[in-house]
Amino acid sequence: MSSVSFDFNALAPEIEVRVEALLAQMTLEEKVGQLFQANLRWRDDLDDWIRQGHVGSLLSLNGAEQINRFQRLAVEESRLGIPLIIGFDVIHGFRTIFPIPVAEACTWDPALVEQAARVAAVEACVEGIDWIFAPMVDIARDPRWGRIAEGAGEDVFLGSAMAQARVRGFQSANLPGGRRIVACPKHYAAYGAAEAGKDYNTVDVSERSLRDTYLPPFKAAFDAGAATVMSAFNEIAGVPASANAFLLKTILRETWNWDGVVLSDFDALGELLHHGFAADHREAALRGFLAGVDMDMMGNAYPFHLANLVREGLVEEAQIDGAVRRVLRLKFALGLFEQPYTDPALAAQVQFTEEHRALALEVAQKSMVLLKNEGNLLPLGAGLKTIALIGPLADDHHNPLGCWHGRGRDADVESVLDGLRAVLPEETILLHVPGCAIEGDAAAHADADFDAAVSAALVADVAVLVLGEAEMQSGEAHSRAHLDLPGRQQELLEAVAATGKPVVVVLMAGRPLVIPWMVEHVPAILMAWHGGIRSGQAIADILFGAVNPSGRLVVSFPRSEGQIPVYYGRKSTGRPADSEGVIQFDRRHRSVYLDEASTPQFPFGYGLSYTDFSYSDLQVETPEVTLDGGVVVSAEVANTGGCAGVETVQCYVRDLVGNVTRPVKELKGFQRIALEAGERRRVRFEIPVRSLGFHNLEMRYIVEPGDFRVWIGPNAAEGLQGEFVIKTP
Ligand code: NOJ
Repeated sequence: MSSVSFDFNALAPEIEVRVEALLAQMTLEEKVGQLFQANLRWRDDLDDWIRQGHVGSLLSLNGAEQINRFQRLAVEESRLGIPLIIGFDVIHGFRTIFPIPVAEACTWDPALVEQAARVAAVEACVEGIDWIFAPMVDIARDPRWGRIAEGAGEDVFLGSAMAQARVRGFQSANLPGGRRIVACPKHYAAYGAAEAGKDYNTVDVSERSLRDTYLPPFKAAFDAGAATVMSAFNEIAGVPASANAFLLKTILRETWNWDGVVLSDFDALGELLHHGFAADHREAALRGFLAGVDMDMMGNAYPFHLANLVREGLVEEAQIDGAVRRVLRLKFALGLFEQPYTDPALAAQVQFTEEHRALALEVAQKSMVLLKNEGNLLPLGAGLKTIALIGPLADDHHNPLGCWHGRGRDADVESVLDGLRAVLPEETILLHVPGCAIEGDAAAHADADFDAAVSAALVADVAVLVLGEAEMQSGEAHSRAHLDLPGRQQELLEAVAATGKPVVVVLMAGRPLVIPWMVEHVPAILMAWHGGIRSGQAIADILFGAVNPSGRLVVSFPRSEGQIPVYYGRKSTGRPADSEGVIQFDRRHRSVYLDEASTPQFPFGYGLSYTDFSYSDLQVETPEVTLDGGVVVSAEVANTGGCAGVETVQCYVRDLVGNVTRPVKELKGFQRIALEAGERRRVRFEIPVRSLGFHNLEMRYIVEPGDFRVWIGPNAAEGLQGEFVIKTP
């Protein structure tokens, strides 16, 4: 498989000629039509709208036949025959479902994530999908927000690397049938900063936070070639993102010089009315368009008002032409004029292949994070006679698909029970007891059977509990205020733990959960996320040691909901929790809680292995660097345990004194290294000094000379520390 990306930016000059020739023939209504995206539920007369050339794009269709049918209306029955561009939410696989994106990111392996995105593109394109509404590159630091499942977690550097990997994978060259796909990073911008973790909620972040935290993954996605973007639902400091000229013009067009297509999120223009930013759809169309939204997804704003706004003189036709040019360019670049249809027979050949299933297994294995393993309870020995497999998710063929599972099917999913059966010898007795439902009220728990679970545990050598969230408890519109185990699962866990038998918890969820009791009382915990179709096999491989876990958290686990947001890249404050020697410093006067620790339950970057790694001999090879130079820092990493393993070596930096305050740590590099037992290696990072900057008081990106601290370690809370200086030029 080629991993080369198609270059949407390297447009052939003849495309410009064709765009202009077409534009010259278009009526105002046909132009506006190119700026409108509908779905099947939009209106009963959708076919006619397409025939009239008044729809430029459709989303969320189902199957090659249906897509070809709509393309035929546009290509063969409309006056100018302009093909539709077909969009779909391909979030973590299309037919072959991979782990949810936050889990994929826990591999810390952008090359692997790129391959997974390519597989998704291969499977989607043969159905006639041209436009993938992903990657979601929103930095997310609040696990109450259900959409934390869809992104790459809390960190700017890792999030940017994952954004690029996924864009490259989706926009791969050489897709089957000569088709092409364009990616759509979303949701521009700062959607992940929704107040109180509630979906669609207000965002009020500073321009500096925008520029230093929320925007860089988008810039990274554009640098990797992303040719479209989706504007977000949320407002930022009083201005909805989908009518935000600062974001859509000043940053996107003027600062970044990016010329791709801006698509609004679903009815985000119509929602300007609810924001109280537009009195009606006419004003919504006006404010959205003038701010820089090219295409209205399902908004009833552009299709009914944009042409009139031109006739009224409030919008210049030249501005419409600019947006239409961008859309037409994209359609030409995608090859839609040459090849609007897809061959329905292709799907059977390229979807859900053994190769794709094998990759889904590899990603699942590498995405799972071992959170605790007291007394090396894991891996379990193959000689166990009886295993109690307990919990509502133990034999679940749906929820491991996770939120947004495309064309994934329950029948494709290997449950944990399936996985264990596949790896265990026939004579091992597996006692499967669901114990209770995942969620719901008393009625849902009418058949809760803690006694059966306890009885099974009592006769078993070990109890493996598979607990967590249903897929519908994370993703869009699925925020939660309580992040404990839903339903009666905590009771089930406590009842089984009370047997005194060794207990392993496999946690499936779309977000970090708040699990202090479990962390205190359960010896072994594996965070399996919603791991996709191969999660059962992957879990079995990890539990029985065929695979040594290597996933590392990309988002901190809070100890309690009250700590949220808790993330490693915080600011120091004037009274940091861990400092000595400030005048009014007794414990109470620090930035701490009276009744909760300040540290997370598990920090960013954390994850255990079946072997041990030690870090020693940090060397800052460049104690003094110039602004155009690179910081070189290295450390010895040794596998001091009993088996081969993979360590993710992480490099963090702190700018000690700034023109504005800087985070206490920022990830600036990471390397996954495989070490045999007893093997050691010097791991070296070379960090470009230009990447150590930030937006200063004047909101200019600068790198400031001065003193820095640097760490190499296994996670954001540990590591060897050194210093370097950026010299004044
Ligand atoms: C709304 C979601 O916010 C967005 O992520 C998605 O791509 C669109 N709906 C289309 O389904």
